Amino acid sequence: MNQKPLIIANWKMNPSTQKQAEHLFEAIENEAAKVKEVEVVICPPFIYLNKPATILGSPDSKVKLAGQDCFWLEEGAYTGEVSPLMLKNLGCQYVIVGHSERRRHFQETDEIVNRKLKAALKARLRPILCVGEEARDAFNSNGQPLNEMSLVVAEQLEKDLRDINAARIREVIITYEPVWAISTEANGTACSPDDAMKAALFIRKTLTKLYSRPLAEKVKIIYGGSVDSQNTVDYVKGANMDGVLVGGASLNATEFIKIIKNIGDIGK
Ligand code: PGA
Repeated sequence: MNQKPLIIANWKMNPSTQKQAEHLFEAIENEAAKVKEVEVVICPPFIYLNKPATILGSPDSKVKLAGQDCFWLEEGAYTGEVSPLMLKNLGCQYVIVGHSERRRHFQETDEIVNRKLKAALKARLRPILCVGEEARDAFNSNGQPLNEMSLVVAEQLEKDLRDINAARIREVIITYEPVWAISTEANGTACSPDDAMKAALFIRKTLTKLYSRPLAEKVKIIYGGSVDSQNTVDYVKGANMDGVLVGGASLNATEFIKIIKNIGDIGK
């Protein structure tokens, strides 16, 4: 594992009021400050970034802020968009790019993800790049695995990281997030820690091909998809992931704090 495990909360389009968002922030900030062994990042909707940015955005705050997405240009006539520079100026240190919900609902192609990734790096934000297959691995008529994961993930990495040079690749965090294992899709079929580990090894192998072994080993690879306080240690310790990206379970302060504490305990 590279340095402190990263625990990223992706709030998606939640909660529905500023007050709820503030309560959630405060509860997490208070507890996270006590756990030294982890790094916590919160990705709220853009509209809630301003207030916590004044409390949490300082470089030495325990909890870091991130955008859930960004546009690929700094400013201009792009109604509704938010630029990486705006996120940076608000105190964000990270931004998610290529989340499967963006790819699926907003038709984001790998070319778009690549532009956003470059723009994020240009603005000195660390991109949290999400990759992962839509469907659980299936078998062909001869019983051979189709190996959907490796086909999809290799293609996404090659296209999404195009022209990202060796000097910057260490700043990118890769999230293996199989779409079928996201809680809203999963119907109880979470990705096993063993499969997550295989995917992480495959990602490192692909990065080795694209860059070099020493560089590939320095890139943080985290897991996302139905992570909760019960299974989080299995992914971070058991599957040796560098952290987790948490959706649904990050909206419940008690549950998310348990995740932080459980991962913190690994390092003790
Ligand atoms: P989940 O979402 O933890 O609710 O599965 C993860 C994500 O989509 O980022």
